[in-house]
Amino acid sequence: MTGPVVASDIDAIRSAVRTARAAAAQRGTPTPRVALVPTMGALHDGHLALVRHAASLADIVVVSIFVNPLQFGQPDDLALYPRDLEADVAALAGEGVDLVFAPTERAMYPDGPTVVRVTGGPVANDLEGRSRRGHFEGVLTVVAKLLNIVGPDVVVFGQKDAQQVFLVKRMVRDLDFPVTVEVVETVRESDGLALSSRNRRLDPRARIAARALSSALEAAASAADRGVDAAVAAAQSALMGEPLVQLDYLAIVDPATFQPVDDDHRGRALAVIAATVGGTRLIDNELIVLA
Ligand code: PAF
Repeated sequence: MTGPVVASDIDAIRSAVRTARAAAAQRGTPTPRVALVPTMGALHDGHLALVRHAASLADIVVVSIFVNPLQFGQPDDLALYPRDLEADVAALAGEGVDLVFAPTERAMYPDGPTVVRVTGGPVANDLEGRSRRGHFEGVLTVVAKLLNIVGPDVVVFGQKDAQQVFLVKRMVRDLDFPVTVEVVETVRESDGLALSSRNRRLDPRARIAARALSSALEAAASAADRGVDAAVAAAQSALMGEPLVQLDYLAIVDPATFQPVDDDHRGRALAVIAATVGGTRLIDNELIVLA
């Protein structure tokens, strides 16, 4: 099995994408499709589900691995973010990924943090954005750069980061990026915990407590036929009795606007939650139907 080509600077990945497109054309695909899966590495089965979806849609799969300093508010959070490029590339080789873009910070930000940034409006300052000031500006800016660097036809994200997905879709639509955004369902452990690179930081007690997030969302989904207040109350009571879980927010938002729904909202809504569990910040979300 040959592994993916790993490029660590912008010229190298652009040239590798050109070469891969030309090779695919020679093999008989005149307009090969390129899919990009942006990641920060520390890959788990959730990322591999994104990669498999990308491979089902495109002829050439590019995975970017870059722990983007622009989207981290706390220096500790950035320093503690797990990194293991060798293991990541080995996992991607098993999935038939063609190209890995693993740039250095200097390659991405040669002049230091960018002066020009993509902002996400009010939604970017609420929920995750309220707790992590500037986070989505950092995410949107690096995603815009990755799209410009790789030039994919399709870009694939995971639904676990629902607010990120909402804002990236808005950026692509508002700024006319010529790319289709594909979203893949959250992959979960058998007890419901959403897969996340941050789960590696949970000690055994925190790992057990962490399942309270998905239990809370399930409780909200079960109570949704009794309305918004009942859904929120059910989720809150599922969190009680887990002293290791410090709730940051629990909200029911309209998937079309990411604004909190009105009390009399009916139909589809998204229950979103963030909590710190034994010192590790986790997020999750679930689609619910309010009656
Ligand atoms: O979801 C992530 O891992 C990151 O926010 C992303 C999209 C790779 C941008 O750094």
